[in-house]
Amino acid sequence: MPALNKKRNAAERRKRSPARLEPGADSRLTEAEKFLLPTYKRQPFVITHGRGAYVFDASGKKYLDFLGGIAVNALGHAHPRIVKVVRREAARAIHLSNLYHNAYQGPLARKLVEISGMDRVFFSNSGTEAADGAIKLARLCARTPSDAAEKPSPKHRVIAMTNSFHGRTFGAVSVTSTEKYRLPFAPLVPGVEFVRFNDVADLESKFDDTVCAVILETIQGEGGIHSATEAFWNRARGLATQHRALLIADEIQCGLGRTGRYFAYQKFASRPDIVLVAKPLAAGLPLGAILTTEAVASRVSPGLHGTTFGGGPLICATALEFLAILESEKLLANARSRGAEVREGLAKLAAKFDFIREIRGEGLILGVELSIDGNPFAAEALRRGLIINCTHDFTLRLLPPFIITRAQVREFLRLFELALEKTPKSISAGRAQNAGNTGRLAQSAAR
Ligand SMILES: Cc1ncc(COP(=O)(O)O)c(C=O)c1O
Repeated sequence: MPALNKKRNAAERRKRSPARLEPGADSRLTEAEKFLLPTYKRQPFVITHGRGAYVFDASGKKYLDFLGGIAVNALGHAHPRIVKVVRREAARAIHLSNLYHNAYQGPLARKLVEISGMDRVFFSNSGTEAADGAIKLARLCARTPSDAAEKPSPKHRVIAMTNSFHGRTFGAVSVTSTEKYRLPFAPLVPGVEFVRFNDVADLESKFDDTVCAVILETIQGEGGIHSATEAFWNRARGLATQHRALLIADEIQCGLGRTGRYFAYQKFASRPDIVLVAKPLAAGLPLGAILTTEAVASRVSPGLHGTTFGGGPLICATALEFLAILESEKLLANARSRGAEVREGLAKLAAKFDFIREIRGEGLILGVELSIDGNPFAAEALRRGLIINCTHDFTLRLLPPFIITRAQVREFLRLFELALEKTPKSISAGRAQNAGNTGRLAQSAAR
């Protein structure tokens, strides 16, 4: 490699790499920085363990975790019943292959069918794989006997949403709108068209018989906690039925109890054809699932789709236990009650801090949109021992575990307020812009 290129690449790497480490830093950090692909901007400390809604770093500092591993740790950490199942199953069989039945895949599929109103299940290892599999199913279902096997079916278009996020594999990133995630990997899967989220007219104008699927997050998570409106959902459902396309609800972040219902779409009268779940399903172990109807399942035959790891015995036993705990500990009700308390507290903070523009979400998937950069507040919260996240630069995202208590909600509100008080001087300009936000806030509080 010419010397100039080498220099340029090294400079590029330095620019992309996270915060520089102090000389003599923990070797676990220096090794991570030296040997890992720099795909994440990580905080410069090591988290060693967690307990309930708290995690602890290597220095022993305690953090209240209101991000829950990005919506994964719905039961917090080290839930005794999960620990017990993992121990028990690890001593039996961690993996067996999908050429044989294991003791838990069937029962877990039955449970997911019961709570979702779907008919059949495919287990993947992650959310992105579930999204990819769903797009494949839509393409499969769109084919007719007259389509030439080696050519794309005329009915191959997929409608996706602006502001969406469905994952990083090729299919999922093709229906994800964020350009920085997409453009470096072009050409992506062809036939995807984006519709403005919640814009019924835009949806109608792009729908026709060449569409095989419409995919949306019932509540957009990564995009800053935006819910599909009832009008948009109903129209998407209607158009999908009219044009024999599949309605795919990505509930990977908002599903499995986070809203206080098993699925966010259950507030609407109609169901999707495919539901995607992942994140909390196996209480932190990697498991995703495609839930679908008998009509879709009837097009599938052995060998069309598959995975080595998906649905292994240890992971499915853990997911069954997760769903059992949701019931026995009444965690859907807890998500509703604690969510309402968090929201009430946030509304009070919005009256105090005029740079809070809007509070969105329901249950324990909440977004606090600011009129100014939210990253310094997330950093300040972390310094004070509270983990939250800032998405799209302006929205502070809260995804706490479903097990949080009243006292922990109070602790969160206290720490969050302290973080907001640490207002950088540079934002005073933002405050002036905010004079007109009162109406918007009143609206969001009413929802
Ligand atoms: C709505 C949604 N879909 C899909 C994904 C991708 O899931 P995974 O990271 O497990 O591949 C995510 C992850 O954040 C998500 O929030």
